[in-house]
Amino acid sequence: MSWDPAQYGLFLDQRTRPAADLLAHIRLEAPARIADLGCGPGNSTALLAKRWPKAAITGIDSSQAMLEKARESAPDIDWQCADIAQWRADPPFALIYSNALLHWLDNHAVLFPRLLSSVAKGGALAVQMPRNFDAPSHRIIAAVAQSAPFRAKLSGRLREAPVADPDYYYQLLAADCHLIDMWETSYLHVLEGEDAVLNWIKGTALVPLLAALDAGEQNDFICELAARLAAAYPRREDGKTLLPFKRLFFIAYR
Ligand SMILES: C[S@@+](CC[C@H](N)C(=O)[O-])C[C@H]1O[C@@H](n2cnc3c(N)ncnc32)[C@H](O)[C@@H]1O
Repeated sequence: MSWDPAQYGLFLDQRTRPAADLLAHIRLEAPARIADLGCGPGNSTALLAKRWPKAAITGIDSSQAMLEKARESAPDIDWQCADIAQWRADPPFALIYSNALLHWLDNHAVLFPRLLSSVAKGGALAVQMPRNFDAPSHRIIAAVAQSAPFRAKLSGRLREAPVADPDYYYQLLAADCHLIDMWETSYLHVLEGEDAVLNWIKGTALVPLLAALDAGEQNDFICELAARLAAAYPRREDGKTLLPFKRLFFIAYR
């Protein structure tokens, strides 16, 4: 997968809003060590650094392009390249925070207890993941990817809805926590510009699919998606497009 900070950054304010909402609910006084998993271009990490300027913060991402952008924005933060699917913290962190990464990883039954075990006693694991996998955007992506001529290269790259019901995560984590704060929010992201929803998903959901296609195929795939997305998410007279987007949040306190 090749994450592109410029494409992701087209809607950085809208994408950072859930990061800020997650942070606002964390009830920790002064966590000494904080990890931001899937830190991307450093937008979520910057919020953590602003709230806890004295904390030692590590931003972790598997994309060198994202980390380069993050490093430019805040050279003093410790930026590390790692795959969170394999990552373990030693020693544990007072806060492990992750906005919009963990739905990209499989096997949550193993992943979440492992992440919680990397949190020090008295600390917290704070997570936001999209839970919009039945939204029109995802249904359109699946329909086009499964149609000719894209099926051969793309159908194997489509994933089952990767995020379970909130109850599943509660069940996984509760035995090792004294408090779990959970909520869901349906955002209405107000997007600017032409083909706004297409441009939004080019920065995220389409990343693994476009990586499997050559330049000509990418162009055809994008043209096909553009027409269907424009019909499902019409641009308003004022030029803006509303993108409804459901997200799951939880903060698990050890
Ligand atoms: C949607 S962005 C989130 C960026 C930022 N946290 C935010 O709040 O906007 C997801 C990030 O996760 C990273 N990522 C995807 N898979 C990863 C993995 N297995 N390990 C580490 N980072 C990963 C991507 O490179 C990307 O920067």
